[in-house]
Amino acid sequence: MLMKNIAILTSGGDAPGMNACIRAAVRTAINKGVNVYGIQYGYQGLIENNIKILTNTDVGNTIHVGGTILKTARSDEFRTKSGRDKAFSILKKNKIDGLIVLGGDGSLTGAKIFYEENNFPIIGIPCTIDNDLYGTDYSIGFATARETIVDAVDKIRDTAASHERIFIVEVMGRESGFLALESGVAAGAEMIIIPENNKKLDDVISDIKKINEEKKSLIIIYAEGCKLGPLNKVAKKIKNSIPGSNVRYSILGHIQRGGTAVPSDRILGTILGNKSVENLLKGEKNKMIGLINNKDQLTNFKDIIDKDRGIDKGLYEIAKTISNY
Ligand code: F6P
Repeated sequence: MLMKNIAILTSGGDAPGMNACIRAAVRTAINKGVNVYGIQYGYQGLIENNIKILTNTDVGNTIHVGGTILKTARSDEFRTKSGRDKAFSILKKNKIDGLIVLGGDGSLTGAKIFYEENNFPIIGIPCTIDNDLYGTDYSIGFATARETIVDAVDKIRDTAASHERIFIVEVMGRESGFLALESGVAAGAEMIIIPENNKKLDDVISDIKKINEEKKSLIIIYAEGCKLGPLNKVAKKIKNSIPGSNVRYSILGHIQRGGTAVPSDRILGTILGNKSVENLLKGEKNKMIGLINNKDQLTNFKDIIDKDRGIDKGLYEIAKTISNY
């Protein structure tokens, strides 16, 4: 089927570089004579018919802007069959032939279910600072978040060193330690605690004691997915277990998702935005487009959802060796 009209939406947590991706998708579609509609507020906006045609100028001057110009949301209604049926009828009403979805794990799971129920062509684009998706080396937004964390930790290190403090810095990543590991290595963290390792707090404390014998000031990167308890309690337990220690913690929070995208996220967004449209128009569907070894590659939604991205275990071992514990 020749496509005349396609639509694009951003869903779930925003990620820096989404705008570069939207811009490339819109301009590629227009270049190929296809109309492209922007859906605002993700799947919820689709259900509510919040949709308008996009022009080349609508996406001008957006490549350097953080967040998503299409707005985003997490839609409970789209999780229900009746919500998805409504969404399908809106697509039919607007004569949309195919859809591009920018998002992470939850958004692409929604895309898979929607495709299966309606046989509606969808191509997904990996956008999440967590970089927890199978089928791509990096997701859009990850590199910028990593940069933001390293910048913040560099600053924390100055004050940690001056006061000879043990500083625990919590970073995002949901269930994955990927963001914590790469940003921890780049920031020269003395310890990186990630959910993949499943360490008990007592073991963590004995590792800290070992490093603390040599160094009084320590940076510990703590992935939010670790289940060691609330960070204030973790910090207190560490302080009480190491006599004379001076412990502080800092939760970086949503600062990690904001800001202008670094060039590598803009380039990744541009490539994947372009390739998503090309593939949709070629008749591809039910797949995510990613970049593996610098080559664009399609992977079935099923594999994206079922398979684990995992962390780079070799990198984790290097980080441990360097910190001597
Ligand atoms: O998935 C992206 C992410 O930023 C996670 O790292 C984090 O746990 C979550 O979203 C936060 O979501 P919210 O914006 O709903 O607080």
